[in-house]
Amino acid sequence: MIDDRLRWNRRYLEGRESALHATLTRFYHLAPYGRALDIACGTGETSIYLAKKGFSVEAFDVSDVAIRKARLKAKREGVSVKFKPLDADRFSFGVSRYNLILNFYFLNRNTFPKIKRSLKSGGVLIFETYNEDHSSVNPSFNPSYLLRKGELIEEFGDMEILYYCEVSNITTLVARKP
Ligand SMILES: C[S@@+](CC[C@H](N)C(=O)[O-])C[C@H]1O[C@@H](n2cnc3c(N)ncnc32)[C@H](O)[C@@H]1O
Repeated sequence: MIDDRLRWNRRYLEGRESALHATLTRFYHLAPYGRALDIACGTGETSIYLAKKGFSVEAFDVSDVAIRKARLKAKREGVSVKFKPLDADRFSFGVSRYNLILNFYFLNRNTFPKIKRSLKSGGVLIFETYNEDHSSVNPSFNPSYLLRKGELIEEFGDMEILYYCEVSNITTLVARKP
C-alpha cells in the first residue's frame, strides 16, 4: 500500500536499520541450500547474512529507501542479493520455488497461502513477529499487525513443526514443508 511505503520510507530516512535476528542464525541451517526469500527485508541484514552463507537470495520490501540501503550494504560487503522495492501483495511468490522463506517482524495474512505454495518440498519457513501481547508493551501498535496466540500453528500446522515458541509478545515458528 502507498501508505505503508510512505510511513516506512520516513522511518528509514530517519536512520532506522533492520536487525539480524538470533532466530535466523539459530535455524537457517535446517533448510537445504538453494533459493531463499526474505519477505519485508528492511535494510537487508538477514538477506546479506544468508547470501554470505551460500544461499541465492531474493528479497523485497515496500520501502524503496530501505531497498536502496540494502543494495548499498550488499555491494559494500561484496555479496549479490536480488532486492526489489515491492508491496507484499504484488510480489509474485511462484510455486515450489524456495528452499527457505523468512518472515521477520511483518504480518500480511494474504501471504500465508502463497508462502506455502512457493516453498519446495523439504523447504523451511522461519516466521517470527509480534503477537497480541505486544499491545501491552506498545499500546499504539496497530492490532491488525499482531498474531493471535496459536495463529501460526493453525495456519502452518499441516507442515512439520521444527520449533514453535510464544514467549511474551513474540511468536516464532520454524516449519518444514512435507
Ligand atoms: C519491523 S520492519 C522488519 C524488517 C525486517 N524484516 C527485520 O526483521 O529487521 C517491517 C518491514 O515491513 C516493510 N513493509 C511494511 N508494509 C509492507 C508491505 N505492504 N509490503 C512489503 N513490505 C512492507 C517495512 O518497510 C519494513 O521494512
